[in-house]
Amino acid sequence: MNAPGPRTMGQQFGRRSWAEPWKIKMVEPLTVTTRAERERALAEAGYNTFLLKSEDVYIDLLTDSGTSAMSDRQWAGMMLGDEAYAGSRNFYHLESAIQRIYGYRYIVPTHQGRGAEHLISQAVIKRGQIIPGNMYFTTTRLHQELAGGIFHDVIIDEAHDPADLHPFKGNVDLDKVQALIDLHGAGNIAYISVAGTVNMAGGQPVSMANIRALRALCDRHGVRIYLDATRMMENAYFIQQREAGYAERSIAQILKEFCSYTDAAWMSAKKDNLVNIGGWLAVNDRELFEELRNLVVVYEGLHTYGGMAGRDLEALAIGIEESVRDDHIRSRIGQVLYLGELLAEWDIPIVRPIGGHAIFLDAKAFYPHLAQIEFPAQTLAAELYLDSGIRSMERGIASAGRDPQTGDHHYPKLELTRLTIPRRVYTQAHMDVVAESVKAVYDARASTRGLRMGYEPKYLRFFQARFERL
Ligand code: F0G
Repeated sequence: MNAPGPRTMGQQFGRRSWAEPWKIKMVEPLTVTTRAERERALAEAGYNTFLLKSEDVYIDLLTDSGTSAMSDRQWAGMMLGDEAYAGSRNFYHLESAIQRIYGYRYIVPTHQGRGAEHLISQAVIKRGQIIPGNMYFTTTRLHQELAGGIFHDVIIDEAHDPADLHPFKGNVDLDKVQALIDLHGAGNIAYISVAGTVNMAGGQPVSMANIRALRALCDRHGVRIYLDATRMMENAYFIQQREAGYAERSIAQILKEFCSYTDAAWMSAKKDNLVNIGGWLAVNDRELFEELRNLVVVYEGLHTYGGMAGRDLEALAIGIEESVRDDHIRSRIGQVLYLGELLAEWDIPIVRPIGGHAIFLDAKAFYPHLAQIEFPAQTLAAELYLDSGIRSMERGIASAGRDPQTGDHHYPKLELTRLTIPRRVYTQAHMDVVAESVKAVYDARASTRGLRMGYEPKYLRFFQARFERL
């Protein structure tokens, strides 16, 4: 008989196991397909996982956006929807939740994150202005560019190296910001665009020391800081775990301190805030608020619903309260770490340190024989789907798009495939199945061929592009 080895991750890592602070009340059956069915479905989808039908997917790790499970309290809140066109009571709940938990003064609801990005970009960016940011995000940068702005990456260099173990790879490089201010003048900087955590870098956090130092720098030059707060709860968790002086502080306290160093925030509530749809803007400046409140009625809806139903506003208000709880965020990120540690143990190349919302497979290291223009990350997403029906997302050259000035492809240093973990949806057993499938695809890597792009849409091409096998 074999000697009994460690049976749980807790035993394996010499610590006590954690478990989710909830139990499951309702279930949704999953579909299991055959390899032949997946071959057909993927070919029909042009080798783009965005174009698959969700019914053809087994474990869906495309995104953590709008895919969370809501709590019984949120569902109960949906029954309290006040569907008045103006002045819905649910809006006032939401407003007070954001004011209390994030600490900003004025709130404008939007239908989702990019609705908020659109409004704030139109309101504050003047043609030709520079927007320094800690790495681009697809929709964020596009709205900045459509408003006439020019995005400049000012994230620290470590963020571009998937193997670098810097604990705060989302940090802003203050020298890069200073250099842009010196070159263009503070008046030509629309604002600094800070995201916590940084999605495209692998869900990497920004430290409190960094945002505090950035605030001091910006105060010297009169430059504003706007926060993409989409995964800021997760950022707060990493500060609590990794930054000296914060171990005893709650997620709520850390979040509020971080936000206090910024002038405004936009939010895709579909992530941290545990709802299936929604977004918001929050600002401290009264004049900017007036402008945003004016724009929201043009593009989203009246300023007390912004494209959401009353019931959605209520679920969101409750979701914010739940998402800031320490036990929630610990188990949310704990599950991501569980999957990442399994893969790392098998020497599968992933972005380190493990980030907050996803495991990012390093497709360049996975497929060293593929050129970047053969779409290694897209290829990996396709292979994973073929192996097991798991859906992931490309975050490499297809997502990076083209330079609007030259028309050339952006060639990002990071060529990643994202296994994004929805909140409160899958179990540890699902994570085991995912890890084993990644391992099977890794073991077959040498014979894998790349892709070429057949159809390329003009905006955010990764969503609808079609590929062919080489
Ligand atoms: N900012 C960040 C950091 C995001 O990750 C997203 C969306 C947005 C803004 C836009 O928000 O989708 O509500 O309009 N990210 C999704 C993802 C799509 O899968 O990472 P949205």
